Amino acid sequence: METVGIFYGSTSGSTKSAAEKIKKAFGKGADLHDIKEATPEMIAKYTNLVFGTSAWGIGDMQDDWEDFIDSLSEVDFTEKKVALFGLGDQAEYPESFVDGLGTMYCRLPDKSVVTGFWPTKGYKYYFSLAERDDKFVGLAIDDHQQPELTDERVKTWVEQIKKEFI
Ligand SMILES: Cc1cc2nc3c(=O)[nH]c(=O)nc-3n(C[C@H](O)[C@H](O)[C@H](O)COP(=O)(O)O)c2cc1C
Repeated sequence: METVGIFYGSTSGSTKSAAEKIKKAFGKGADLHDIKEATPEMIAKYTNLVFGTSAWGIGDMQDDWEDFIDSLSEVDFTEKKVALFGLGDQAEYPESFVDGLGTMYCRLPDKSVVTGFWPTKGYKYYFSLAERDDKFVGLAIDDHQQPELTDERVKTWVEQIKKEFI
């Protein structure tokens, strides 16, 4: 498998911590980048990509991703695979759980390259922009309500996307 580029946006550290766990689960073949310091050229370098954001406000991604996401149109995604993950809080925001993840998916220039959908079973919420046909469009992580499940979720999800990456 080619090197994986993990790009995360994090305001208070949860998404960064999840991104570090994802990098560890990939082993040696993964690089970690804060989207705040990223460029479209850096993203274009990787065949296999992981993008992570938290959820803020009404359907908002984390601020640095909000600032960056339109630059993705400068990247040619044709021979790439992209997996997404999102942080949120299902008890405090049950009507917009991990909405940042859903918004990220909506705003990707090419959705056909997205892999790593994740079951909604095991979470309790009313509505999520990230839900499509009983699945999330990427890994949903809730370090507020279910921190004890994060490590296992990351491990299982990374094993899943490893099979789908190029
Ligand atoms: C003002 C505010 C709004 C939030 N809105 C949502 C939301 O709509 N949906 C959700 O699932 N989580 C929401 N959250 C929870 C954050 O996404 C969660 O705390 C996340 O772990 C933050 O990650 P970060 O520190 O890496 O940015 C919100 C948190 C705050 C403080």
